[in-house]
Order: sequence, then C-alpha cells, then structure tokens
Amino acid sequence: MAYKRISFEVENKIAYIGFGYNCDKSMTTLDEETLGELRDIIEELHTKQKELSGAIFFTHKDRCFIAGADINLIAAMKTEADGAYGAEQGQSIFNRLEDLKIPTVACIHGVCLGGGTEFSLACKTILMSDDKGTIMGLPEVKLGLIPGFGGTYRMPKKIGLPNALDLILSGKTVNARKGKRLGLAAAVYPKERLKAMAPEHFKGEEKKQSFSESLGNLAADNFLAKKIIFQKAREGVLKMTKGFYQAPLKILDVMEAGMMKGRTSYLASEAEAFGELCVSEQSKNLQHIFFMTEKVKKYSGKKGEGKVPRFERGACLGAGTMGGGIAWLMASNNMAPIMKDLTPAALELGLKQSSSNFMGAVKRNKMTFEEFEKKQRSIACQLDYRGFKKADLLVEAVVENMDIKKKVFAEAENYVREDAVLTSNTSSLSVQEMSTALQRPERFAGLHFFNPVHKMPLVEIITHDKVAPETVEALYNWVLKAKKTPVVVKDGPGFLVNRILMPYMNEAGFLLEEGVAMKDIEDACLNFGMPMGPCRLLDEVGIDVGEKVAKIIYVGLGERAKSSNVSHMLVEKGLLGRKTDKGFYLYDEKGKVTGVNDEAMAILPKPTKKMSETEIQMRIFLPMINEASTVLADGIVTTAEEVDLGLIFGIGFPPFRGGLLRYADTEGLDNLIAALDKFAASVDKDRYGASEFMRKLASEKKKFYEFNV
Ligand SMILES: NC(=O)c1ccc[n+]([C@@H]2O[C@H](COP(=O)([O-])OP(=O)(O)OC[C@H]3O[C@@H](n4cnc5c(N)ncnc54)[C@H](O)[C@@H]3O)[C@@H](O)[C@H]2O)c1
Repeated sequence: MAYKRISFEVENKIAYIGFGYNCDKSMTTLDEETLGELRDIIEELHTKQKELSGAIFFTHKDRCFIAGADINLIAAMKTEADGAYGAEQGQSIFNRLEDLKIPTVACIHGVCLGGGTEFSLACKTILMSDDKGTIMGLPEVKLGLIPGFGGTYRMPKKIGLPNALDLILSGKTVNARKGKRLGLAAAVYPKERLKAMAPEHFKGEEKKQSFSESLGNLAADNFLAKKIIFQKAREGVLKMTKGFYQAPLKILDVMEAGMMKGRTSYLASEAEAFGELCVSEQSKNLQHIFFMTEKVKKYSGKKGEGKVPRFERGACLGAGTMGGGIAWLMASNNMAPIMKDLTPAALELGLKQSSSNFMGAVKRNKMTFEEFEKKQRSIACQLDYRGFKKADLLVEAVVENMDIKKKVFAEAENYVREDAVLTSNTSSLSVQEMSTALQRPERFAGLHFFNPVHKMPLVEIITHDKVAPETVEALYNWVLKAKKTPVVVKDGPGFLVNRILMPYMNEAGFLLEEGVAMKDIEDACLNFGMPMGPCRLLDEVGIDVGEKVAKIIYVGLGERAKSSNVSHMLVEKGLLGRKTDKGFYLYDEKGKVTGVNDEAMAILPKPTKKMSETEIQMRIFLPMINEASTVLADGIVTTAEEVDLGLIFGIGFPPFRGGLLRYADTEGLDNLIAALDKFAASVDKDRYGASEFMRKLASEKKKFYEFNV
C-alpha cells in the first residue's frame, strides 16, 4: 500500500518506515492523517511479520523525528470523553506496535517529544543520533497534561521508576548521552550510521546497569519502596509547584494506583486522566501560552522596503550588571563581542558576570570547559572604540541618565559603520527623546533586557517615530536567534512590563502605610501564584532603582501612578535591598534571604489592620489589570496576547492563569469594574478609577481578547 505522510519500504526482509515524508513542515507531528497511516502501517507489519526480520523507524527530516501529538487536536477537544477517546486511539496503535513479534527499532534523530517518545517506547529498541539537536522527553506536564499514549506506563519499565518520575513530572528532555545513560537508548550513533546499525540491534540487548542503578531499581521493585518513592515525588512536586499545578499530582495518582495493574486497565486510567486534564481550565491556559509562544516565533510586524540586516558581530557599551550579561549573551551566540567601559575595574566586573553565567552551563553539563574558555575569551574588553567598525549590533547599557546616554550615542555613532544598528537597554527613559541624539535614528531602537539576562526570557524592542521597520525586524530576528522572547512595544513611560508592574509595588507600599502586615501582603501575592512578593521583588530590583523608575512613570502617567512614601523612607536609611544586604529583608553574602529586616519594620507603620487575602489580592491586581487596559488603549502593544506574554516572560506572572488579561477576561470585565468602582470610592479615585477603555469594552460586552486594533 502506498502512504502519503510516511514512507514504507521493504528491503532484504527489513521494513523501513520513514516519518516526515512528503511534508514541507520542518516538524512532524502526530496529526490525524499521520496517526491514521501509522495505524495502517502497523497492521501491514502484523500481516507481513512472518516474512520480515525486523522493522526500522527513522525520519526523513533534518531536525525532527516526531515533535509530539498535534496540539491543535488537543486544543479542539471539548469534553473529557473526547480527550479520553483521543488518548485511547493513540494507545491502541502503540499497543499494536508493542505486540509485533518482530524486532522494532526506533532510530531517533532530531526532536522526539511527547507522542514521539511514547511511540519509541512501544518499539523494542531505541537508538539515538549523537547530534546536538537530538532530544527525547515527555513534556506534557508543561501543558497541564498527562502523557496519554502509554508514556507513563512504558517509561518506568524502560528506565526504572525514579528516573521515569523525574522525566515525566518535570517534562525535561534528555540528549543522547543522558538517554543512553538512563537506558532509554540502547546505543548512540552518528546520524549517518543510525539506520545501518539498527539491524545489529534486532536481537535486543540487556541494559547494563551501574551498581547504584541496579540497587536503585531493585529497591524500586519492592512495593513498600515504591510507596516511599511516590511519597517523596509528591513532596517534591508540592514544593516545586506550591500545589498550584494539578497535572503532576494527577500523574502521580495514575502511576501509583497503576502499580499493580495490567496494561489494559492501566492505560484506561491514563486515558481517563488525560481526558479530565485536557479540558481543564489550567491546561487550556497552558495550551494558550504554548500557542502564543509559537506565534511569536515569526516576525509579523510592519515590513520595510530595504534589506533586513543580520547581526554577526556585537558590541556593548557599559560592563555593569546588564552589560556583562548582554556581552555573555552575544558571546554565547558566537558574536565575539567588544565590551567597553570607563575603567579596567568595571570591565573586570562585566567579565566576572559573563564567566559566572558560562560556568553555570558547564556545571549543568550544557557546555564543556574548552567551549567555556573559547567563548569567554571571545569577549574583547576595552576602554576605547577600537574595532567598533566590525560590530553590526551595539547595545548601550551605561548608567540610567538621559544626558549621559545621549552623549554616549552621539560619540559612538562616529566609530560604528553606517549600517550598524544601535540600541539602548534603558529601563525607563524615553527612547523617542534618545533618538534625537542620533544622526541615523532609523537604525536605532530600545532593546530592553531584564535582569538577570541569562535567566529572563523577555526582551522588549522599543520603537519610536523614526525607526525603520527593517531595524525592528532585524532586532526581532536576533532576539529569537538568541533564544529569547521578543515583544515589540511603542515608547511610553515604563514601556510594557514595568508600567504594569508599577501598581504591584505601589499598592504594596500603600497597604503597608495603611497598617497591613508585610507578611500578609507577600503571602497574598505568593498564594496568587506570583514568584515573588512585591517587597521581596523591590529588594531584588534595588529599592532606590524602584523609586527612581516609579518617579519617571509618575511624571509620565500622572496621579494614578503615584507611589507611597515607603521606598523613600527605606532609601533614606540606606536600606536599598539585596545589593546592600538589607532592605525589607536581610541577606547573607550569597544573596540568600536570612529573615525580615527589623530595622525596616521599625520604619514602617505598625501592622494594625487585618485584611483578607482576597481583598489584598484585589487591591494589588485590579490596578495592574486597569493599567494593562491603558497600555492597550495607548497602543503600546496592540493585543492582549502581547500583554500576557510580556508579563509571563518578563515578571513570571503565573502561567497557570494564562496571563493577566486572560485572567481578567475569565473574571468578567463588569465584575472587575464594579470592584474598581468600590475601591475608587473607598480608597483612592485616581489609583482605582477604571479606565475609559475598559468601560467601553465592557459596555460593548467585549473581552480584552476580543479587542482588535
Ligand atoms: N539593573 C537592572 O536590573 C536593569 C534591568 C534592565 C535594564 N537596566 C538598564 O541597563 C542600563 C545599565 O544598568 P546596570 O544596572 O547594568 O548599571 P551598572 O551601574 O551596573 O553599570 C553601568 C556601567 O556603565 C559604565 N559606564 C558609564 N558611563 C559609560 C560610558 N560613557 N561608556 C562606557 N561605560 C560607561 C559604568 O562604569 C558601569 O560599569 C541602565 O540603563 C539601566 O536602566 C538595568
């Protein structure tokens, strides 16, 4: 039989089955058509198995074996029964694969995730290519799902319970080296030899276990030991997720209850759990983030007439906290950057920053020591502009002062090529105004990284009147290439993220002034799912820096952006946060919190007011939603999706809520406006006055996500 999506050939009694055939997409997914063909092929193998000595599965693609089940299929599921039925369909195909009597070998090259890994687990042997891009894993938990095609059933059998739980509950991927070590892959070969070596594995092989692995698996075979493993895993999950995420707990329930079950009844409970989770609000929110992230991977903004520049070499002005991080990012991306500062001591600090980021990668086995040395040495440190003509992209990260920045740009422009793109990492100054200092403003924009650069995924690309679309597109492409998430925003006070973050800090200050205890405020935000409470966050940013940025935003936005006196009182006493080891909290020399700072507590009003957690959350998150609505109204960004993406990747807004404005839509605009009106009357009319834009949307019975510019 001829197939369209999967190639099928028999040669010397071996069936060769190739995924990603006749398909222009770079990634192969298990969509309806592919799954249908796979079912037919496996049936054909059953019919022909007497004449075959084995079946080898491989990929025609350069970078992908099977990227997973088609998420569109999952997103389209409306009921639990739909979900369970979908999982059962996949399970039945993989069961038939597992039941083949002949040797089956999956030759993994490129990305092999989710359903792809579950498919491979149903084969008797897995081989992996030694290519850097070859990875396997079950990332379903990241979408709020349980692997539904038998992954939770087969993975423990392949690699033992403790390792399987680690992979399934974290959703992390493994490369070939780790895959081999775990026993997931029987062997690793260069990509070109994978298929040819597969018949060598037709006999199957025992995985050689290390002594400690044997002990571990022996222990895991014991019923009581399994109970303990599950208990530990549950504790680990609760610690990691603070109990916010239901999928890992559900996975544990299914796997633990399934310990004594046979295949049929185990898989029935896996399918049922998949059905339940896939239509849950939490999974839908996480799927929504997945789709937003996919959408961002391609520039969809305004196109220019000219050629879009590509950045091969970089330069960074300023070697401070941010400059060191940006130089590291450039070096990681083979841009052999030049880092310029005013003193050798400052350059030393920048280099230290970069080297500590690289060493982190070495410790995590993501990079060899030789690679570290090569990349770290690729950063040229200087006090002058030598060699700046080579740079295609320059990022300025000097002190936050408009006059200094203007002066620096006017000077730097004399030393770079005319076609170089110049950017500023300013976190609060007007990019529009800064552009007036440049002779070629069309090749200038804001490029706002978040601190610390190596951890924070978001980069705001800030536009102004004169910037050329090619410049924006080039920066967008570069940010993507550097594996960060770009969002294009119009210039305005605090741009996108800091503007919406402002009420988070400000309202916490006002609540403290009203006599609400700091612990109650911090806990309310943490229990909402925020990664840090507002006081802890202010300590991290620097209370003095926070105060300065708050002032700039206040000047730009007016009374609704006013702040309390709290930051000022702490700054006056030299309590600046983590950098001075003292802020709202105390810190040890490694920057770890050691306790609440009594000195700061003595400055703050006595905590006399008891406020419910819900009220504190409303007092803090309502003004954030309100500000986000003005961000849309002012055209800083044009869609609710961009706001949500910015906050999730910029400040860690809880992903399980799907984003600030998606959360707002779920609550209902009418309800939010009613709550804002109440606080406007009882607390402050400026800070809680619902925006005209939000009222208009509500009167038209629209949601934020239905707003289109
Ligand atoms: N720190 C943050 O959390 C953060 C986050 C995002 C953006 N930013 C922005 O990044 C920029 C830098 O911030 P930072 O925290 O790295 O500051 P920093 O004080 O740590 O470093 C600034 C560096 O610039 C150097 N410098 C000053 N004038 C210079 C000149 N003319 N030429 C070359 N170097 C010069 C200083 O010597 C210093 O090493 C600021 O605009 C800031 O607003 C900071």
